[in-house]
Amino acid sequence: MHYIKFLAVFFLIVGIKTNLSAQDLLKGKKIYETRCLVCHQADGGGVPNMNAPLDGASNVVGKDIARMVRIIKKGYNEKVALDGFYYSNAMTANPDLSDEDIANVLTYIRGSWSNKAGKVSLAQVKAAKSKSH
Ligand code: HEC
Repeated sequence: MHYIKFLAVFFLIVGIKTNLSAQDLLKGKKIYETRCLVCHQADGGGVPNMNAPLDGASNVVGKDIARMVRIIKKGYNEKVALDGFYYSNAMTANPDLSDEDIANVLTYIRGSWSNKAGKVSLAQVKAAKSKSH
């Protein structure tokens, strides 16, 4: 009997967790489509020499979440090589996106197309912000 109860609770938790991450991805996708797609394209491939790709980008699937939070909030126009290439366009800032929006859109770009990196939590975005002052 205990075994059955344990299983029921287990599947309930797994179900809730799966639902949540599906929802985060969906929310992230919506933000991506309204804010990012115009430059980074639907397939995350960017535009050669102009807008950096997000699909397959080592920084996007990398560990420096704080850098990406900063880029999304403040925009980006550093003209340093990204995976060996330079991009002429300037990324616009998104000062009005909430921390939750940023977590969701980061989760989306890290887990879409060929990218398989883990989800970014609200706590990670908050921690990143407190570090970057
Ligand atoms: C106006 C076009 C434009 C928009 C809109 C835009 N970006 Fe960018 N993004 C760029 C460009 C151009 C670069 C590279 C800039 C450079 O090299 O100086 C970049 C760089 C990045 C990087 C760093 C990539 C790397 O390899 O280090 C990330 C992450 C990123 N963008 C995410 C986003 C997200 C998420 C959104 C939507 C919230 C977004 N961008 C909206 C043009 C844009």
